[in-house]
Amino acid sequence: MATDKIMVIGSSGQIGTELVMELRASFGNDNVVACDLKSSAQEVMESGPFETLDVLDKTKLLELIKKHHITQVYLLAAMLSATAEQHPMFAWKLNMESLFNVLELAKEGHIKKIYWPSSIAVFGPTTPRQNTPQYTIIEPSTVYGISKQAGERWCEWYFKKYGVDTRSLRYPGLIGWKSAPGGGTTDYAVHIFHEALKKNTYECFLSENTALPMMYMPDAIRATIEIMDAPAEKIKIRGGYNLGGISFSPKDIAAVVAQNCPGFTITYKPDFRQQIADSWPASIDDSEAKKDWGWKPQFDLIAMSEDMFLNLKKNSGKI
Ligand code: NAD
Ligand code: SER
Repeated sequence: MATDKIMVIGSSGQIGTELVMELRASFGNDNVVACDLKSSAQEVMESGPFETLDVLDKTKLLELIKKHHITQVYLLAAMLSATAEQHPMFAWKLNMESLFNVLELAKEGHIKKIYWPSSIAVFGPTTPRQNTPQYTIIEPSTVYGISKQAGERWCEWYFKKYGVDTRSLRYPGLIGWKSAPGGGTTDYAVHIFHEALKKNTYECFLSENTALPMMYMPDAIRATIEIMDAPAEKIKIRGGYNLGGISFSPKDIAAVVAQNCPGFTITYKPDFRQQIADSWPASIDDSEAKKDWGWKPQFDLIAMSEDMFLNLKKNSGKI
């Protein structure tokens, strides 16, 4: 069987940085082409092919797909929740047109399989907040959430109408040590680790009891590769699977950080991101993903925090 050739669009971002390296480990360095507007992390640039690409340029996108004989596209380029509220029209353009470009090329037979991430941001203030089910009220109140809701519907439509093999996860807030987050409402949960190590204090832009669904990056990368590897008949939902990991508030994570950094202090200064966070679930019911393709998270808050500190300290030469 011919090896899959993979393109990751948005390879310089929080997820792309880690996903490219994991895919290269599984599929071979030369079979994973990283693409972004800007250069990616050094290990991504040095370990395999990289192409500069504006995903809104469909002609160039097709040219690169043909040049590298691409069969699968992971489309990660997007504007995230907090930045999208500041630039609503461009966020809509980027988040939707990038998806249409990829879906259309798949419909025309140039790509066999697409991964496109959705988000907990599809949910809104009228959604039940605790243990939010897969099927529930979905009335997002952010530009980003509206684009994710629309994207989910379009993925399903292209699957039903044209048989385009689309796969999607509603990621919670993602936390990793290798890359910086890119303008989301859940970014505080990454910043807190860096600031604890640098200054032993952190000013949080969400209030202390704002619980949100979160996940450690290794779990998210594994879920992404698992859903893409699953046989097509196991994928019952083409719009976006709920994906559960950890649920915690700034106060919860601050307590765990303090166990690793004695004397650590946190203050709270909620800004416009508080309203976004208040419209999202506190925890997620991911039983459909568990049932359909065997999803199982591995990291809880303690295990995640220990691994974050270990790697950040190693990286900065502190251990
Ligand atoms: P990010 O902002 O860190 O990275 C996005 C990357 O896309 C950046 O490197 C950027 O340069 C690139 N990009 C932007 N415009 C582009 C264009 N026109 N052409 C090519 N590249 C372009 O985002 P991320 O956190 O890695 O998120 C990736 C995807 O996952 C997004 O769809 C996001 O909505 C989704 N998601 C992320 C999270 C999270 O917590 N990180 C949670 C839910 C969903
Ligand atoms: N982490 C993302 C954000 O805050 C959720 O999609 O925008």
